[in-house]
Amino acid sequence: MRIVVGADHGGFHLKQDLVKWLKEEGHIVEDIGAHEYDQYDDYPDFAIKAANKIKDGSVNRGIVICGSGVGASIASNKIKGIRASVCHDSYSASQGVEHDDMNVLCIGARVIGYELARLVVESFLNSSYSGGERHQRRLDKLIDLES
Ligand code: RB5
Repeated sequence: MRIVVGADHGGFHLKQDLVKWLKEEGHIVEDIGAHEYDQYDDYPDFAIKAANKIKDGSVNRGIVICGSGVGASIASNKIKGIRASVCHDSYSASQGVEHDDMNVLCIGARVIGYELARLVVESFLNSSYSGGERHQRRLDKLIDLES
């Protein structure tokens, strides 16, 4: 899968580890930064950059990491067409895709560690949108809000 990954200083080290693993798993990973640790960088810059990669169709999914995952989620959801959420468990990560067509997974690197993050990411990437009538009806209501 083609995946964009981004993180601020709060998520920098976890991003480095996840990007390495995702590439080893055979994914095509676009790492939009931060490319070096900078305690003064801002999560919206990375969330927006990642969101735009999904919007322009160059990638299928995004993973944005900050300290809590909250800022990354709030920023990502400002962009039309982005359905982002913080998930720190596998159930939410897969159901978020299956029912809600979530396309950006947000992770808080100060909340979960590498091993759990890997399980959450696996659940996110291995899931696909159900397209079920009730799910689509709900999704359409959200799409209406954006227009
Ligand atoms: C940065 O210190 C931190 O506030 C940020 O990474 C994130 O946790 C915000 O939600």
